[in-house]
Amino acid sequence: MKRSEIDRAIRAAQDVLRAHDFMLPPFASWTPAQWRKAGPECSRIFDCRLGWDVSDFGVGDFDRLGAVLFTIRNGNLRTPGLGTPYAEKVIILTPNQRLPLHLHWSKTEDIINRGGGRLVMELYAVRDDDAVDRESPVTVYCDGREMSVRPGVPVVMNPGESMTLAPGMYHRFWADGAGGTLLAGEVSSVNDDETDNLFAEHVSRFAAVEEDVPAAFVLCNEYGSRMQNR
Ligand SMILES: [Fe+2]
Repeated sequence: MKRSEIDRAIRAAQDVLRAHDFMLPPFASWTPAQWRKAGPECSRIFDCRLGWDVSDFGVGDFDRLGAVLFTIRNGNLRTPGLGTPYAEKVIILTPNQRLPLHLHWSKTEDIINRGGGRLVMELYAVRDDDAVDRESPVTVYCDGREMSVRPGVPVVMNPGESMTLAPGMYHRFWADGAGGTLLAGEVSSVNDDETDNLFAEHVSRFAAVEEDVPAAFVLCNEYGSRMQNR
């Protein structure tokens, strides 16, 4: 992704969040210069990868496959006791924009429609060889109510509705094309995007970035490289 596209997507997401009166913590608006001044008191932000996460999953078609995410709180799967034992994100999806089909080995997550449009979810079980099980139904909880979902049949979630996804459950979701930009929430156990995702599509978790303009924001997977100049 071009840096200009990433910055534009974050600014658009900020507008959506503002429209919903969903306020983010102060570091959501820090510039690279402010990040460079951040000291050890901010190590939890770096170690738990809080902050902006914009990805086209390496496919180069961000409007169709991609998302703007912001991790508000998190722990560290590889360092128990660091951060919080839970995580929270907001996920902004434009109409027809989706996440790739994936599962988590460890994370249990609630995906929540916080408003703006309809969220559409597709689910599959996992086979013993880790492939997508396209035949078995999936048992899932929607706002505490048990449901059996046929594999790959889209489940529409209206504003306010949520779904609890257990580990080992393939899922992908998108913003219904007939609605507006979707503000989705994620409340989960600890999130680790380096080790806890298995994708059923040929994607990479983070985008390769082409630096066509000076960055206006620092992404959560860039803290190491961008902090080197401190
Ligand atoms: Fe997920």
